[in-house]
Amino acid sequence: MRQHVNPLSKNFEVIESIPSLNILFDNPKLPLHLDIGCAAGDFLFDLSLINSNWNYLGIEIREKLVKNAQLKVKERKIRNLYFLFGNANNILENHECKFIIENAKSISFNFPDPWFKKRHYKRRIIQPEFINILSNSMQKESLIFIKTDVKDLFNYMDRTILNNLNFVTLDKVNLKSEKCFNPNRIQTNREMYVIENKLCIFERIYKKI
Ligand SMILES: C[S@@+](CC[C@H](N)C(=O)[O-])C[C@H]1O[C@@H](n2cnc3c(N)ncnc32)[C@H](O)[C@@H]1O
Repeated sequence: MRQHVNPLSKNFEVIESIPSLNILFDNPKLPLHLDIGCAAGDFLFDLSLINSNWNYLGIEIREKLVKNAQLKVKERKIRNLYFLFGNANNILENHECKFIIENAKSISFNFPDPWFKKRHYKRRIIQPEFINILSNSMQKESLIFIKTDVKDLFNYMDRTILNNLNFVTLDKVNLKSEKCFNPNRIQTNREMYVIENKLCIFERIYKKI
């Protein structure tokens, strides 16, 4: 399976229509967490089983991974988990999908693709316009979590988020972890790899004010 796809390709311009929250989830009133670039969704499967008091929505650009994850959700009859296929930027910038951002209590960007070459920076998920869209629709007090093992990417994402004056850094000690989307500190696949290989993890949490 291809590891990297170009999110700016025309293939991702048309987005699927997205059902309302009461179709996506058994209980649409539960707090919603959005995981962007969720790959095969293993992290979200673990979370959704342990925390039945949250709804989880994953967005992933590699279609095969999403199809497999959707099938697994159906087979296992999981009703607090949903996967969407597409470029997260195109999906969330679409006016009809605004309800997703408006309802999300938190959003995670776990180890997003770094796109090391300068001419490819525009392929990175976190872009100033995208953060602007999140900031315009996210509820006050809702959170963004970023994690990466690439220091330059961390600096870029941190700068881009904090350039938007509606976000402030939240000190980890002030996070009520038992109330957050991941109280058991489950690790993503990339995170496990990074830890096993003793690489650094750069992470930060932001609060919408
Ligand atoms: C390095 S992997 C990290 C996967 C997972 N979050 C983890 O921590 O193990 C980055 C993932 O983001 C996906 N991705 C990259 N750009 C995307 C975009 N614009 N929209 C949705 N998913 C994207 C990639 O296909 C890939 O699965």
